[in-house]
Order: sequence, then structure tokens, then C-alpha cells
Amino acid sequence: MPTILVTGGNGYIGSHTVISLFNSGYDVVIADNLANSKMEVQNRLKQITGREFKFYNVDCCDEAALDKVFGENRIDSVIHFAGLKAVGESVRMPLEYYSNNIGSMITVLKCMEKHGVKNLVFSSSATVYGMSEDVPFTEASPLGTCTNPYGWTKWMIEQILRDYAVAHPDMRICLLRYFNPVGAHESGLIGEDPKGIPNNLFPYISKVAGGTLECLTVFGDDYDTPDGTCLRDYIHVCDLADGHVKAIEYLAKADEPVSVFNLGTGKGTSVKEAVAAFEKACGHPINHVFGARRPGDIAVCYASTEKAERVLGFKAKYGIDEMCSSCWKWQTMNPEGLKD
Ligand code: NAD
Ligand code: UD1
Repeated sequence: MPTILVTGGNGYIGSHTVISLFNSGYDVVIADNLANSKMEVQNRLKQITGREFKFYNVDCCDEAALDKVFGENRIDSVIHFAGLKAVGESVRMPLEYYSNNIGSMITVLKCMEKHGVKNLVFSSSATVYGMSEDVPFTEASPLGTCTNPYGWTKWMIEQILRDYAVAHPDMRICLLRYFNPVGAHESGLIGEDPKGIPNNLFPYISKVAGGTLECLTVFGDDYDTPDGTCLRDYIHVCDLADGHVKAIEYLAKADEPVSVFNLGTGKGTSVKEAVAAFEKACGHPINHVFGARRPGDIAVCYASTEKAERVLGFKAKYGIDEMCSSCWKWQTMNPEGLKD
């Protein structure tokens, strides 16, 4: 059984991907410094999968500590999720974002090189397309100008990986550009567990639906879209997780050192539609008001899924209703998130 090192495997997308990897016959080793996740995720993962696996509490910027992880395990491929991801925080703390996100990527590459590991999947984001609204975004769409340090770290890491692959043409690297991951595992045992007041739409709606927050503000209803609110390509986190397994399978036969794939559904859902779908899932109205536009938001953002379908054989299975119902199950089972 090939062994996959999942950095950031204790986080939201990483933990769901660990389940998909086990379901597909892989072994998993996790490296996570718990910067944005709770140790309880490990218990939940064991409960869901019934599997034992190694967890290392290490900072992926710490080369000696990460080297030990590679030394103690025969790693076949790496999925690098570890990173900081809060847009607003990145504006306030740019150095932390540049050093953590770029530093951890470089350290992972150094360890991979030392231990002869050639296959890497990197968590990129649709944010690299910048402020363009030339939708749907294809992998060939031009990269844009990012509006915050978080976005730039993804943009820069993509470039670092392309440069690295020129020097190391035997590497096989997948850049996965996620659109908007939402939802939770069907068990309701793991899900998105943000610290403090959420910035993103789904965690915020969940908390209003659950009664922990009073009212959702919809940021702008005067966009040039059918109902005036922004369209986003929400993708169920379990679909996204399966996309990583497809990427790992693909790397074993890839001809090119670097391949890029969008992971989305190809469908834009408006904020109003998302609220209506969540109301259906939770069975009661969600208190919301319409407010000003949020700076930095674009009206429409959705993926072309053609390449991921054709090359990876990846197609999202779930729609907005399953995304909302799984989110609601996670929220009701864990109203205050996970405790340590
Ligand atoms: P998350 O914060 O839930 O998970 C990231 C995990 O990495 C956390 O468990 C955190 O403790 C860990 N981590 C952070 N820095 C680390 C370090 N230096 N060493 C070891 N562990 C470290 O975030 P997520 O939503 O699961 O996102 C995973 C990846 O996908 C991130 O790179 C993120 O930027 C990217 N991404 C996320 C989204 C999204 O909407 N969630 C969209 C596009 C891209
Ligand atoms: C945001 C980030 C993006 C990041 C992604 C992670 C910005 C500009 N973009 O994307 O870089 O990769 O999160 O998931 O921050 N909305 C409301 N009310 C709210 C929250 C959101 O109306 O309280 C609206 C937003 O205006 C947007 C939509 O809901 O139209 C989705 O917002 P969000 O979940 O924050 O995702 P993005 O902005 O697409």
C-alpha cells in the first residue's frame, strides 16, 4: 500500500482527504502543528475509518523535525495542505503568512528531495485567477493580481513549484486550484471548525442557523448577476477529498512535471440561493439582512471542470442540498466545534 504524507492532515480539507485515501487503499501519515485544528480530529478520524495511523505534531517549516518524519516512514507521495488561510488575517500579518506558507512548502520540497520522494499534490486556490470575471476559469486562464498576502502565497508557491520542476524534471507535481469547499463528512464527526467569528459564508450561515450568531449580512445585492448577489462555485469537501485521490493516481502516470487542475463543480450558486438551500436543510428561516459589498469580492467565480473530468476522471457528485445538509448535521452535532 503506498503511503501518503498528508501535511495539514488534521485540518478541514486534509482530514476529509485522509478518509478518502483510506477508502482507496492508501496508508497515511499526518504532519500538522495544530496551528488551526484540534487534536480531537484524530479521535474522530479513528472513529470514522477504524484505522490506526501516525500523527506527528510538527511544524512543516522545521526541517529537522520534518526530516525525521520522512526518515521514519517510507513516503511515496506528499499532499501539502499545511498553511494559513484566513484572508483578513493575512492582510494584518503578512510576514507570518509568507514565512509559514512559503517556508513550509520549501521545507517539504527539501525533505522530498533528500528522501527521493517525487510526487507532490499542492493545495492551490481559485484566488490565483485574481479579480478577473472571465468565467468559467480554465486552467489556461491568465493568473491575475491577488488582493491579499494569502492569495499571493498561493500564486508564488505555484511559481516556485514550476521553477523547481524545471530543475528537477523527474518530479511529478499537481497544482489543485480549489473553488469554494463547503460541507462536512456524512458522519457529522468532522467538518469546518473555524476559530472565532467566521469570515466565510457557509460557516457563518451554519452559526446563524444554529443560533450562535444572530444574523447573516449578505455582502451586496446590486451585482450584475441574476439575483444581484455574488455567484460562487461551492464544492462538497468530500468531493474535493476524492479529487486528491484522483490526483495521486494521476501522478503515477503523468508525463509532465507540473499539471494544473481546477476542482469545482462548474456551477455558480448565488448567496441568496445558498441561504435558501440552507433554510431547506435546517427547516427554518435564516435571519439575514442585505449590506454593502465586501471589498475585494468579485461578482462571479466558477470553474471549468472539463480538464479535471477528461484527464483526472474527476466529477463532483454532490450538489448544494447535500452541502447544506451535511453542514447542518455537523453544526447540530458540534454546536461549539471540537474541544481539546
Ligand atoms: P485548515 O486551516 O483547516 O487546515 C490547515 C492545517 O494545516 C491545519 O490543521 C493547521 O494546523 C495546519 N498547519 C498550518 N501551518 C502549518 C505548519 N507550518 N506546519 C504544520 N501544519 C500546519 O485549512 P483547510 O481549509 O483545510 O485548507 C487546507 C489547504 O487548502 C490550505 O493550504 C488552504 O490554503 C488551501 N485552500 C483552502 C480553501 C478553503 O476554502 N478552505 C480554498 C483554497 C485553498
Ligand atoms: C474567500 C476568499 C478566498 C478564499 C476562500 C476560502 C476573499 C475575497 N476571498 O472566497 O481567497 O480562498 O474564501 O474559502 O476573501 N458572504 C456574505 N456574507 C458573509 C460571508 C460571505 O454575503 O458573511 C458572501 C461573499 O460576499 C461572497 C460569498 O458569500 O460573495 C462567498 O464568500 P466566502 O465564503 O468568504 O468565499 P469567497 O469570498 O469566494
